[in-house]
Amino acid sequence: MRKKFIAGNWKMHKLRSETRSFFDELRDQISDASVFGRVDVAFGVPATLFDEALKARPQGVKILAQNCHFEPQGAFTGELSTAMLQDAKVHGSIIGHSERRQYYAETSQAVGKKWDALVKQGLLPCVCVGETRPERDSGRTVDVIRQQIDDSLSQVAKTSLTSEFIIAYEPVWAIGTGLTATPQMAQEVHQFIRAHLSQKVGHEIADRCRILYGGSMNAANAKELLSMPDIDGGLVGGASLKAVDFSKIILAASV
Ligand code: 13P
Repeated sequence: MRKKFIAGNWKMHKLRSETRSFFDELRDQISDASVFGRVDVAFGVPATLFDEALKARPQGVKILAQNCHFEPQGAFTGELSTAMLQDAKVHGSIIGHSERRQYYAETSQAVGKKWDALVKQGLLPCVCVGETRPERDSGRTVDVIRQQIDDSLSQVAKTSLTSEFIIAYEPVWAIGTGLTATPQMAQEVHQFIRAHLSQKVGHEIADRCRILYGGSMNAANAKELLSMPDIDGGLVGGASLKAVDFSKIILAASV
């Protein structure tokens, strides 16, 4: 039985004072601290909030970056290495988010290099994949996902694959649109991802891997999505910004 993993992706939102009040409210909403032991909770936050989030989080909550560079150091203005993330005491990073692929031309190969670099630094990669609307409409969803996974895996050392990683299936057309994949649609893709991982990296690793759904997950639809056998959690954008909303998703996963 895989423990559920609920991650908020704050994207480019919140200041330090708002981070403090968010976590105070989250504690008010979830007074039973054991919830944070039954479900893994994480937040991908802007780098300016690492310190504040690490101080203010309930015990056990992980703080993630939203991106990293794969090179250990160098002339890469504006980037953060995995050693810097570890030095800042965060637990891992979201990588390959569709917004990074779309606006910053990030390739699946680059995502694979980041995956490898994170693992080698002892950090947790949360690897996003997902198809666009035209790709789904033309029946290419699983081909696109397969290609994204294979191109990334081609850059990950075999020895790095034994360390934990998380995959987030985020259909691009469902992100920030209020359109959610139905539980059945999401389950179909999650099942494919697990089966494909099983072929590529072996049954044991694939079975252990938590596959999150992302794309307009909210307090109203989380329970049903999380009840599907291969949906092991959520990567939540908009609904992670308010503690009242996000706490309901955490509680839906903690039963
Ligand atoms: P929304 O939950 O706002 O659709 O965003 C999903 C997402 O991009 C999480 O990474």
